[in-house]
Amino acid sequence: MLQRGIRWKFNTPTASHHGGVWEHQIQTVRKVLSSLLKQQMLDEEGLQTLLCEVESIINSRPITTVSDDSSDLERINPVSEGSCTVVWAVDHYDVFLCPHTEKGDFLALDLGGTNFRVLLVKVSDNGRQKVEMENQIYAIPEHLMRGSGTQLFDHIAECLANFMEKLGIKDRKLPLGFTFSFPCRQTKLDESLLVSWTKGFKCSSVEGHDVVALLRKAIRKRGDFDIDIVAVINDTVGTMMTCGYDDHNCEVGLIVGTGTNACYMEEMRHLETVEGDEGRMCVNMEWGAFGDNGELEDLRTEFEREIDCGSLNPGKQLFEKMISGMYMGELVQLILVKMAKEGYVFQGRVMSALAHPRTLQDLLRVIYHFSAEKVLRELGLDPSPEDCAATQRVCQVVSTCAAHLCAATLASVLRQIRDNKATDRLRTTVGVDGSVYKNHPQFAQRMHRMVHRLVPDCDVRFLYSEDGSGMGAAMVTAVAYRLDMQHAERQHVPSSEDPH
Ligand code: BGC
Repeated sequence: MLQRGIRWKFNTPTASHHGGVWEHQIQTVRKVLSSLLKQQMLDEEGLQTLLCEVESIINSRPITTVSDDSSDLERINPVSEGSCTVVWAVDHYDVFLCPHTEKGDFLALDLGGTNFRVLLVKVSDNGRQKVEMENQIYAIPEHLMRGSGTQLFDHIAECLANFMEKLGIKDRKLPLGFTFSFPCRQTKLDESLLVSWTKGFKCSSVEGHDVVALLRKAIRKRGDFDIDIVAVINDTVGTMMTCGYDDHNCEVGLIVGTGTNACYMEEMRHLETVEGDEGRMCVNMEWGAFGDNGELEDLRTEFEREIDCGSLNPGKQLFEKMISGMYMGELVQLILVKMAKEGYVFQGRVMSALAHPRTLQDLLRVIYHFSAEKVLRELGLDPSPEDCAATQRVCQVVSTCAAHLCAATLASVLRQIRDNKATDRLRTTVGVDGSVYKNHPQFAQRMHRMVHRLVPDCDVRFLYSEDGSGMGAAMVTAVAYRLDMQHAERQHVPSSEDPH
């Protein structure tokens, strides 16, 4: 060593064999790694993902002794006070699961993110039921997301008119289902009062009002077409409905996209706010609002707190702000800026390009596995290989954390369903949709894996629902329309003028 000019620094106090604590940690990591990996060979990406998992296994171990006393700590479940905010009545779910007698043309509107979709669903019944769909996506410009409610609903009516014009159906009064994916107090199948806006929307004079009435008013004002708005639903419900059509075991609907939420089938006897004890009902959990009563205070980081403070709805949708696609880019940005300030990346310089709000979209690309180096260079930065690795790693930690939090909440829903059925082994299906779930190359896999780890006694099938939220509204409309027709027929007193 001397010959090569290498100096020997005698520093045993920091050598690993002298550090009982970290030596122990290394041993634990090694143990977890080898029991998960066995003989498998991994590439760089696989290894990094696995390390994230190992890290979370180690960090999630209880740090205090777990009490044997069952009365000590109660598990938080989806119907615990504060977590379940809205109950919606798809009370005859079985009717919706077998809509084999429906036929006709149905329209659906899907409003819930930055895009807005109009669908025409044609159900024909020549021996075997056939479903065809036409749809068109319309953007909602930012100024409309935060303008007046009248402007927003006028825009929706205009897009609907444009769609009907294009398909040559403007002269027909078709039944329509409206997927409106914001927290609402649903009073009837076609009446729903917006409780509060989420996901970057903040239009005036809509909160507290019936969104179906506002849409009807906007359509009436135009006067160039007419429509029969039959039902309004949440996207989670639409997703569960659509998946339930293919798989009758589907009893949970989950969205992980711009926002996040889930619904599930709950026993009526557990729902205090609804009369009757028989049967089941769909509960729209609005789980994005979990934490708004302080339940997540021990978990929220300074970054999530900062995002919340600067948001349009401070103090609201705290769980959503920890996991959904709308906030992931900003989370990564805040972490990188802090790391730069503390000198860990970018040579300690917080370049304006990194802190700029426009950068969020670019950081989102890294989260979705674009090359960090390419994205950072496009931003005009000159990253070192370490800066790129750190950026990639932050993205990975943020998205893994989101997947695991989502899995943890879903696991509690599954336990609730299992307990309701008083079965040792639950077999169930979760219908899922949302841009994060669909487009992130590893989110789904990480979430599934964690769910299986948390509830090993549940056989869960995840069914991805293509177009679920919009299609679901059309399905509910089709069934409700048929039930209405049948009801009207039964009420009808035959007169002598009726054709025989
Ligand atoms: C809304 C929910 C919706 C979810 C997913 C949340 O912000 O409050 O109603 O289901 O986003 O779109």
